[in-house]
Amino acid sequence: MPINILIVGAGAVGAFYASRLALIPSSSVSVICRSNYAAVAKSGFKITSPKFGTYSFTPTHTFASPAFAIASNTRWDYIVVSTKALPDLSDDSEILEGLVGQDTAIALIQNGLGVEEPYTKRFPGTVVLSAVTIASAAQNEPGVITHNRWTRISIGPYLSGTTESTTLDMTGRRAVESNAEFVRLLKEGGITDAEEYSHYKLQMVRWHKIAINASFNPSAVLSGGSTNNAMVIDPELYLHLKGLMDEVLATAPKVLGTPLPKNLATPDQILNSTKKNNSGSKPSMLLDWEGGKHMELEVILGNPIRIAREKGLEMPRLQSLYALLKMAQHNRDKVKSSSKL
Ligand SMILES: NC(=O)c1ccc[n+]([C@@H]2O[C@H](COP(=O)([O-])OP(=O)(O)OC[C@H]3O[C@@H](n4cnc5c(N)ncnc54)[C@H](OP(=O)(O)O)[C@@H]3O)[C@@H](O)[C@H]2O)c1
Repeated sequence: MPINILIVGAGAVGAFYASRLALIPSSSVSVICRSNYAAVAKSGFKITSPKFGTYSFTPTHTFASPAFAIASNTRWDYIVVSTKALPDLSDDSEILEGLVGQDTAIALIQNGLGVEEPYTKRFPGTVVLSAVTIASAAQNEPGVITHNRWTRISIGPYLSGTTESTTLDMTGRRAVESNAEFVRLLKEGGITDAEEYSHYKLQMVRWHKIAINASFNPSAVLSGGSTNNAMVIDPELYLHLKGLMDEVLATAPKVLGTPLPKNLATPDQILNSTKKNNSGSKPSMLLDWEGGKHMELEVILGNPIRIAREKGLEMPRLQSLYALLKMAQHNRDKVKSSSKL
């Protein structure tokens, strides 16, 4: 029996990792598409990558909607969710209704904090894996994926409320096993820097990624469309970005109850390496803003602020960005919908 993997959200990140998993002889990788359905059903995906070259990936099944995936009667071993996490627009855990079986593991490859909760609530007892990637990829036209750089993906079982010393129940132990297998599959597909973490350590990685996303993404929009490099070479914006990162990295250990690992890059290291990268890359939130799309504000800004508040902690710099961007998005959408009338 092959390992059946279903990708929900076969855009830049989902299709890139799917294309690597599909190379493993023991796997069968299918996708549920949305706007790219016609292109992918006709010609599959074309991927270009500085590491892997140019290649194509034809999914075992290309489904036009979840209903077709249900009708295929496949027992999914892994359902990988890599939609943009937009809980203020839709609860994407709903897409998985009718697809999750007894032995299915749900793997979320998404930015932000709190993305796992809708899945653990809807599917109690189901294994949920939480993944953070630093890969940079884009779908510039339907089915055509450009992998720009980096492949690293960090994955941990999502076991809310546990610490390193908790004795795990059966679901917890199954989650650890599925996590190890999923990392192994990615490595076999050429993602040699796929990393296996515990629940606890993965949440630290998520917070560390928030330090990067919650600083660069909103600031690129609010500074009127700056690239990452343009922001770090501006002295005032450098201080602003560093202030944001420091705020997140000072809050994270208080929320998690433990210091962050010493091997994670410091704000100055991140900012200085961005100074050297003059590729003109823009954060995804800016691309979404420029494309008139909804931004991942809730999981990148709103949830960290709310999680910190539950512990009596405030993040005033993050809060300012959140309040301003939320209203900017609301005002833009109001203008858009009134111009349609
Ligand atoms: N791209 C990167 O470099 C990068 C790097 C690190 C992390 N991330 C994170 O990875 C996640 C995915 O980002 P991405 O850049 O891959 O986004 P993306 O290119 O927009 O891909 C998301 C895909 O999900 C599809 N989708 C959304 N709702 C769906 C539904 N109900 N049914 C079926 N398909 C649905 C979208 O279809 P439509 O086209 O129809 O909307 C799109 O194809 C985000 O959390 C992002 O922050 C991205």
